[in-house]
Amino acid sequence: MMQDIPATMQAVVCHGPENYRLEELPVPTPGPGEMLLKVDGVGICASDLKCYHGAAKFWGDENRPAWAESEVVPGHEFAGTIIQADDEALTHHGVELGDRVTCEQIVPCGTCRYCRRGQYWMCAPHDMFGFKRATPGAMAEYLVVPKIALPHKISKDLPPAHAAFAEPLSCSLHGVERANIQFEDVVVVAGAGPIGLGMIAGAKSKNPMTVVALDMVDEKLELARRCGADVTVNIATQDAVTVVRDLTDGYGADVYIESTGHPSAVGQGLGLLRKLGTYVEYSVFGSDVTVDWSIISDDKELDVRGAHLGPHCWPAAIAMIESGRLPMDDICTDQFPLEDFQAALDLVGDTSGRSVKVSLLPAGAK
Ligand SMILES: NC(=O)c1ccc[n+]([C@@H]2O[C@H](COP(=O)([O-])OP(=O)(O)OC[C@H]3O[C@@H](n4cnc5c(N)ncnc54)[C@H](O)[C@@H]3O)[C@@H](O)[C@H]2O)c1
Ligand SMILES: [Zn+2]
Ligand SMILES: [Zn+2]
Repeated sequence: MMQDIPATMQAVVCHGPENYRLEELPVPTPGPGEMLLKVDGVGICASDLKCYHGAAKFWGDENRPAWAESEVVPGHEFAGTIIQADDEALTHHGVELGDRVTCEQIVPCGTCRYCRRGQYWMCAPHDMFGFKRATPGAMAEYLVVPKIALPHKISKDLPPAHAAFAEPLSCSLHGVERANIQFEDVVVVAGAGPIGLGMIAGAKSKNPMTVVALDMVDEKLELARRCGADVTVNIATQDAVTVVRDLTDGYGADVYIESTGHPSAVGQGLGLLRKLGTYVEYSVFGSDVTVDWSIISDDKELDVRGAHLGPHCWPAAIAMIESGRLPMDDICTDQFPLEDFQAALDLVGDTSGRSVKVSLLPAGAK
């Protein structure tokens, strides 16, 4: 299968915070061992928005160097169709021309201390699609998959936005794995955005006693129920600590998974966990968080665990999407053509909670 590949393509280019532009770029040429994808769909995540707005995690501050680079095509949650590749690439990845793949967002170097120990998601150079010049992202009509990238086959029958959701869902499932859920646990997931909804589905599939979802938007809590939450709490109108105490004979939750991106959800979690409980932090915060750390030590001896990306969870995430058990049509709320990327970014930033997963469809609506 050899499609006509044009000389140029439309792409969004990040020139720095709040300076993203639609441009005509040359279609990249895959080198030996590389594959050219025609991008079917690319999701926009809360992290993309924080990068857009210039958060210190991406652009640095007095305490840390910048990690993101400018003059880069953003987009790390994508699915696309392989339209050009040599035998070396196809054999290496076990795919064929015409297959649809989604790729892990991290492009691990393979040689650093972490990669050599199999901890590739913490790769030291940490090249990720859409943030580094070495790995341009998918807010473009075409994208090159480097040989060292980690693609996974995904069904061509899925709508493009659903296929691209493999990225956030793998992240959610890794957050759940970090929580080490036991059958008798009461598990609280804070935030029913795209990441939290996947965590609810993942936590439910571990079959604990109760999965509790917290949010302040009723529509998202309704989706949380459809993803597997047994109990939902609107924190704007109900006191989460009281609800959880009532569910646990006054002890508190066994596990709290934080996926709101909001500093207030950190103290909330420390407050509603039982002694010796487990706190998983998944959020990327736009500002510093202040809490009383003695709750972690002196009060409750908590197990506090970070989580990053979705290592070893991609096949499970893809299987979950392909199984049809998630309400994908209602999770993937909004799709835009590439040229409307600004409206799409603005919608992700709209705090009224109108959207869940916003995606761009560079190959046109399907
Ligand atoms: N660690 C990683 O590798 C990684 C990867 C992807 C995303 N993230 C981060 O995960 C977080 C969640 O991502 P998302 O796309 O689902 O974000 P989102 O903004 O779409 O969803 C957050 C949800 O939390 C709700 N919320 C806000 N404050 C709350 C509170 N105090 N209690 C309960 N709910 C509250 C909001 O109403 C919203 O529905 C973000 O911070 C994102 O940057 C981390
Ligand atoms: Zn993301
Ligand atoms: Zn590495």
